[in-house]
Amino acid sequence: MNSFSSPNRHLIKSPEAIEKMRVAGRLAADVLMMIKPYIKAGVSTLELDKICHDYIVNEQDAIPACLGYGGGHGRKPFPAVICTSVNHVVCHGIPSESKILKNGDILNIDVTVIKDGYHGDTNMMFMIGEPSILASRLSAVAQEAMYKGIETVKAGSYVGDIGAAIQKYVESERFSVVREYCGHGIGTVFHDDPQILHYGKAGTGMRLEAGMTFTIEPMVNAGVWQTRLLGDNWTVVTKDHKLSAQYEHTLLVTETGVEILTARPDEDLSRFTQ
Ligand code: MF3
Ligand code: CO
Ligand code: CO
Repeated sequence: MNSFSSPNRHLIKSPEAIEKMRVAGRLAADVLMMIKPYIKAGVSTLELDKICHDYIVNEQDAIPACLGYGGGHGRKPFPAVICTSVNHVVCHGIPSESKILKNGDILNIDVTVIKDGYHGDTNMMFMIGEPSILASRLSAVAQEAMYKGIETVKAGSYVGDIGAAIQKYVESERFSVVREYCGHGIGTVFHDDPQILHYGKAGTGMRLEAGMTFTIEPMVNAGVWQTRLLGDNWTVVTKDHKLSAQYEHTLLVTETGVEILTARPDEDLSRFTQ
């Protein structure tokens, strides 16, 4: 099937759009690199948010996509620039002056920037001081789960291949995959089609085509996969209050494989070079 006859042609980016996605992706990745030296015991998650805000707005001349996002239907818009999810917080943790990082914590920072109308969305784990063996293993498994999903991506493969690869690997490590939150198409729209489930069956769902852009962002729990939403209507925690970890990249499907638009220099991405 060529891109003219595809029912999903609205999801296929033009060469010009792809170039803008590359820029937005690089900026989002740069925020994670920039914030790393500020992350230590004693700092509040709101301080980290302020640093990211100033960097995105003043240095990158970009727009923080999460700030003011997702209001309506009885929920207030997200009040910050980054999501800061500590320990048993699965995702969408709200930065706060009272949340002071301490030795042994694990922190996920999720950042999305808009540049020239296009979104770049990425997140990673940070360790505060000496993490437990469980915490380090959980974070490593979440990162490897993301890579296992990315490895399936190429023109002609299926969305279901991603979730199947992630679920198989995570469960083989005796951890669980969160079901209620998923990856997403991304471009001028923050959360677009297709939904990218991090569990499921290979060979099912949408067929991938070169030029599609979406995120893979598995959340991996040490205990049960079930989650609970706190009263602020944003913060998602594990139902059993055990640890959770997540990694996220924004990706471009190519004819031969995949381009990681939010790649960072601290990653070993040699298995993805084409
Ligand atoms: N960046 C998150 C994602 O990966 C979305 C956060 S929306 C927010 O899709 F409003 F909570 F910031
Ligand atoms: Co995302
Ligand atoms: Co994100």
